[in-house]
Amino acid sequence: MNYQNSRITEVAELLRQRFATLEVKADLLKAVELKALYAEIPTLAAEDRAAFGGELNQLKQELLDLINASQEAAEALPALDVTAPFDINSSRPQLLPTTSGTVHPLTREIQRVADIFGRMGFEISESREIDDQYHMFETLNFPKGHPARDDYDTFMTVQTDKDGEPLIAPAHTSTMQNRVLTAGKAKLEQGEAIAVVIPDRVFRNEDLDARHEHTFYQVEGVYVAKGVHAGMLVATLQTFLQEYYSETLGGKELDVRVNPFYFPFTEPSFEFALSCPFCDKKGCNICSYEGWIELLGCGMIHPNVLTAAGIDPTVYTGFAWGCGIDRLVMMKYGIEDVRHFESAKLEFLRQFS
Ligand code: DAH
Repeated sequence: MNYQNSRITEVAELLRQRFATLEVKADLLKAVELKALYAEIPTLAAEDRAAFGGELNQLKQELLDLINASQEAAEALPALDVTAPFDINSSRPQLLPTTSGTVHPLTREIQRVADIFGRMGFEISESREIDDQYHMFETLNFPKGHPARDDYDTFMTVQTDKDGEPLIAPAHTSTMQNRVLTAGKAKLEQGEAIAVVIPDRVFRNEDLDARHEHTFYQVEGVYVAKGVHAGMLVATLQTFLQEYYSETLGGKELDVRVNPFYFPFTEPSFEFALSCPFCDKKGCNICSYEGWIELLGCGMIHPNVLTAAGIDPTVYTGFAWGCGIDRLVMMKYGIEDVRHFESAKLEFLRQFS
């Protein structure tokens, strides 16, 4: 803004510069230089007062605009995250000595599981914590309205996907099957197998008790090639379990049970159970007095699931499984309540240091 009057021009420049240094921006309007200009008005010749007063008001408006603009800019700053565990403006907190903390037992066991499957030739992949209903159901041969969808009741977001369906917190790691199969198709064409395991977190709307949590872990496995059959599935899982429990078993053969079951995405489907280590098959409250603990679901991948990923089911066959990691770990260490894992109880966690 340019002013005709040289004194007003001078004060305007001075105040613009001072503005940057002011802590309270509104103090600009209290500047003595501005007051002096106003005090000058009555001393001016009558014919000059209107022009001088008009310019002075313009200057005041300019200063007001400056103050308002800076206030808006300050309000537009990103909000402070009040849930942050420390003041983000402070210097970094000193970390506790490492002897006070340990890797969470589930994290450590997930690494062990991944290591065993890695040695068996499987690639390790990850799932996601928000997914869509297409991957949760459609690609897995659960068409809309399929009653088995009810077994996978989970949490949903208000946000919807492109079909207008709510996004979901995946209720199983099987949501990754279509992605793994689609990505692995090229391998099949080169004569290699698709062999992937996906250990990750899943969510369900559960009534919580010693065996059920709303947040838990699964390891999904997918193996596809030419001529794959159910015997290979049983051998793979038995080899894994024998290795995983090798320290606990002390050379003993593992007792497993394979029962027919139903999943929409496998045909035939099976349920794999381990004998209850708490009661030695006599029956206790951990195994619901059955003597066995259902550990994982598995089966031969349904032709519709292969077709949905563009794989010809008349050429290739495969097996898949989904195993609850929490339960696997509970049985290894004799943990009687799944809720300990997410409880953050130090007495519990320190036993695994
Ligand atoms: N997704 C199933 C569940 O959470 C478990 C499962 C069963 C996974 C069979 C599979 C499978 O890959 O083939 O109940």
